[in-house]
Amino acid sequence: AERCVVAVDGPSGSGKSTVSRRLATSLGARYLDTGAMYRAITWAVLRSGVDLTDAQAVAKVAGEVDLCIGTDPAGYGVTADGVSVEAEIRGPEVTAAVSAVAAVPAVRALLVARQQEMITNAGRIVVEGRDIGSVVAPDADLKVYLTASAAARAARRSAEDASDVAATAADLARRDRLDSTRKADPLAQAPDAVELDTTELGIDEVVARLRELLADRG
Ligand code: C5P
Repeated sequence: AERCVVAVDGPSGSGKSTVSRRLATSLGARYLDTGAMYRAITWAVLRSGVDLTDAQAVAKVAGEVDLCIGTDPAGYGVTADGVSVEAEIRGPEVTAAVSAVAAVPAVRALLVARQQEMITNAGRIVVEGRDIGSVVAPDADLKVYLTASAAARAARRSAEDASDVAATAADLARRDRLDSTRKADPLAQAPDAVELDTTELGIDEVVARLRELLADRG
């Protein structure tokens, strides 16, 4: 099949996952959730009991865990050392720790290399994360940067997981701050990314807009 890489970046709760999955399905493309990879590594780090502030120890655990992630619509599941961690990686412990683990340069180098390999082998793929257009796939055919108001993002997240809106808003703000200010590959909009504010848009509208952008390119 023809090669096509779509990079979807943006802060937590901007609608990246829902939009990226729908877009991938509608294009018959694969889908890679890079956040799930950072979350699975974080799960392994928490299980190991190493100190989260010990970058060297965290990197060692990351290098040793056997991480597998599905990119085919048949299953986007994640396993660590052969065990499904699908539920665990969405839990509060992993969510609280993931930005610290994702800030470790050696962890990023490891996962960025894995992601680039998967993209090269994929053909058509929609890749979602924080640094896809800027670092992982700078040559992507389309780069999108999704945003939404802080209130809309918190409302969406808490609707998804039935959590308290105020607590969710505080958690999103905390992770955005950590993700945007870290030294290694911070959350950033690539200069050639199309910014789309999804505050007032439904999922179908966003997906339709991205399909238009893809059709118009080049
Ligand atoms: O997208 P999701 O909320 O699952 O990502 C979880 C965390 O993983 C982010 O808050 C960020 O710290 C990290 N991440 C990253 N780079 C990516 C994807 C996720 O640093 N490409």
